[in-house]
Amino acid sequence: MRLATSAALLLMTSVSGAALAQDAPVAAATAAPASFAEDVWTYAEPETARVSHVDLDLVTDFDNKRLYGTAVLDVVAEPGAKSVVLDDNGLQIQSITDMDGNALPYTVGKSDDQLGSPLTVELDGNDKIKITYASAPGADALQWLPREATAGGQKPYLFSQGQPINNRSWIPTQDSPGIRQTWDARITVPKGLVAVMSGDKLTPDGVPTADGRVSYRFKMDNPVPPYLIALAVGNLAFQQLGPNSGVYSEPELIDAAASEFQDVEKMISAAEDLYGPYRWGRYDMLVLPPSFPYGGMENPTLTFLTPTIITGDRSNTDVVAHELAHSWSGNLVTNATWSDSWLNEGFTTYFENRIMEAVYGPERAAMYADLDYAQMLKDIENAGGMDAPSTRLHGEPGATAGQLDYFKGSTFLRTIEKAVGRERFDEYLRGYFDRHAFRPQTTAGFLSDLRANLIKGDTQLENQLQLDQWAYQPGLPDNAVHVRSSTLAEVDRELAAFNAGGPASAVDTDGWSTQQWLRFLRGVPKQQTAARLKEMDKGLNLSNSTNPYVRSAWYEIAIPNRYEPAVPSLKNYLNSVGRMLLIRPLYQALEAQGDWGHAIAVDAFAQAKPGYHPMAQAMSEQILAGPSQ
Ligand code: BES
Ligand code: ZN
Repeated sequence: MRLATSAALLLMTSVSGAALAQDAPVAAATAAPASFAEDVWTYAEPETARVSHVDLDLVTDFDNKRLYGTAVLDVVAEPGAKSVVLDDNGLQIQSITDMDGNALPYTVGKSDDQLGSPLTVELDGNDKIKITYASAPGADALQWLPREATAGGQKPYLFSQGQPINNRSWIPTQDSPGIRQTWDARITVPKGLVAVMSGDKLTPDGVPTADGRVSYRFKMDNPVPPYLIALAVGNLAFQQLGPNSGVYSEPELIDAAASEFQDVEKMISAAEDLYGPYRWGRYDMLVLPPSFPYGGMENPTLTFLTPTIITGDRSNTDVVAHELAHSWSGNLVTNATWSDSWLNEGFTTYFENRIMEAVYGPERAAMYADLDYAQMLKDIENAGGMDAPSTRLHGEPGATAGQLDYFKGSTFLRTIEKAVGRERFDEYLRGYFDRHAFRPQTTAGFLSDLRANLIKGDTQLENQLQLDQWAYQPGLPDNAVHVRSSTLAEVDRELAAFNAGGPASAVDTDGWSTQQWLRFLRGVPKQQTAARLKEMDKGLNLSNSTNPYVRSAWYEIAIPNRYEPAVPSLKNYLNSVGRMLLIRPLYQALEAQGDWGHAIAVDAFAQAKPGYHPMAQAMSEQILAGPSQ
């Protein structure tokens, strides 16, 4: 049982690694943190022996859906340490040896559904070990798409999603966000496919191999948490956008992607002006197939993006700003454990909004922030109200309700900004990123840094901020800052007229951005007559909308009313989009409708399942299985 109090936190933040930190060269890329926070989602014991570098040499086997080859790990062991403990989820290990090929004894412990197994390797005095292995066909991190599931339909596709603890299904290492590692890789793929990774691309065009394949080499010299190692392989085109930025996608999508993300250079400049230099070299983006389970993923040097944000009007470029912002909050200063994920997501949501403001002006930024505020209140309500434990920012890993780590986290930072003034807060944050660059951070660590460098004993400010309440208590402190958007206020007026019985045809949706649509659709009462739904669908062109956000929000209204005419396009939607944020609420809403909805959900999922990423499959299966006991 874990108590989310400061005292419990101090206990959790293990100090047993302190001696190690003193021995480690501070300037070295792989310098150890002062201590390793206890991460309950890893088997690793970094105080004893930790991985400092991973060298992958892997081949893609599309026929058998596996990656196979070797991983060579550099291990820093404490004097007397006999073995190193790694994370392993379903890896098929052929051998583990030293660099001369001598076998090293190892054991694979009992497997846990979520965490996988501890892989304990005897070091026998070595500081490098070589693991020859293959990933399992159903590896959690990997989605192997048959050619039919791609835009071009000609070539298969593979991509990985590491966060939070999936990478142990294809990389045998210590899979904890607090254990940073440099890495390099050689990935060998069939001719005609391109491999990209989340590091420097050393051979952009690939190198032909003797047996007719192509190898791509990559490296990452900054130490990163291993969830940030990412790979994609497919028929990829590239379009340069700025001197150090560009976008990859299948050729069919590249023009639309390049046009949608044209402002990326401006975003990078805005981010650097705010919080200091971008420290990762290039900033490229990869637009994945629609089954990509997230909106975006901040893989260093190469943000992964869902194609659902390409709506033609650049209204979802907040996702790009978000993933870019993670280059500071998350990738530079990293949540030490998944209990601290708000340090990644809340900081990033705040920072993302600052980038949007710098590039598009205050009203556009206010629109995103106002919409997020409404979602925050809804998340709190859905969680069970202000006392619900899952509304805490810091808690059990993965236990924060909805997107509260994003929205309550960003509101927390905005509240501090308001109290101390923007100039002072910006200066503080810039210093914060410098002080903790390439280090893990805990919630307690952030609060103590804030007290040391911003509050500096000002008791009035301390009392005003309610820091501990924000970080450790449920609900929403009474100083929460709510930014309001006049654009959304205008939508609210349209909404009021509509909800009072006004005709759908009178709603002026001309030129509406995704956010205006969402404000409107989320504000329509959930109980509607079939006639009214028909009028809405027709008048607002909802079932046929090409905007995936609009479609999802529409089905959230149609489903609770068991509106049959929307079912065919709903099934089609669930079968064509795998982004969990957009499909999760639909499976949930269907399940809430008893047998009627369950039948539709089962039917849709049966069709859609082969096209979903393993994470989206597991998520849907969990919802279809009903509420857990
Ligand atoms: N790092 C997250 C994605 C993630 C979160 C992966 C949790 C695994 C576990 C990414 O930066 C993110 O937050 N994506 C958002 C987009 C954002 C604009 C809210 C998403 O996927 O919707
Ligand atoms: Zn994020």
